[in-house]
Amino acid sequence: MHTAIYPGSFDPVTRGHLDIIERAAKTTDKLIVAVLNNGAKNSLFSVEERVKMLEEETKDIPNVEIRSFNGLLVEFAAQCDAHVIIRGLRAITDFEYELQMAQTNRVLNHNIDTLFLTADLKYSYVSSSTVKEVARFGGDISSFVTPNIANYVMKKFTIHSESK
Ligand code: PNS
Repeated sequence: MHTAIYPGSFDPVTRGHLDIIERAAKTTDKLIVAVLNNGAKNSLFSVEERVKMLEEETKDIPNVEIRSFNGLLVEFAAQCDAHVIIRGLRAITDFEYELQMAQTNRVLNHNIDTLFLTADLKYSYVSSSTVKEVARFGGDISSFVTPNIANYVMKKFTIHSESK
């Protein structure tokens, strides 16, 4: 069985991420979406919340599994028996960081390759950071995330502003 892994912070998952998940899932038997457990210090959502949101958004894609991971991605990929890492590229500005990460991962584990999917043009400007920025100031995020995710994001900002 061919397994690929799509890692990220997904804080929160955007329409751009979902587009990459749908397309990547068609290229492999199993796609593991791997959510970085970064201690939630700088994250709006806990790792459990990010996993739950991804599970809800991908429930109709049978060969997608959502997992969280700590530590090195290549070690987690090897544990999952995944030989391919999927990353999305939006613009040339993504490339330098992505290339560095792909090269580093390849040095760390020669059996794992990174495959890049180009983001759909309509999502090429969307990022989790801009979603949070727009939501923080009460803007409309419906173009960037699904209605379900928008609800979660708006709830966070309502809670944050009520507790001030
Ligand atoms: O969505 P992001 O934040 O761009 O995803 C970055 C991610 C999670 C893919 C990257 O930070 C990562 O793989 N972190 C795990 C630690 C690791 O393996 N680092 C070595 C690669 S440079």
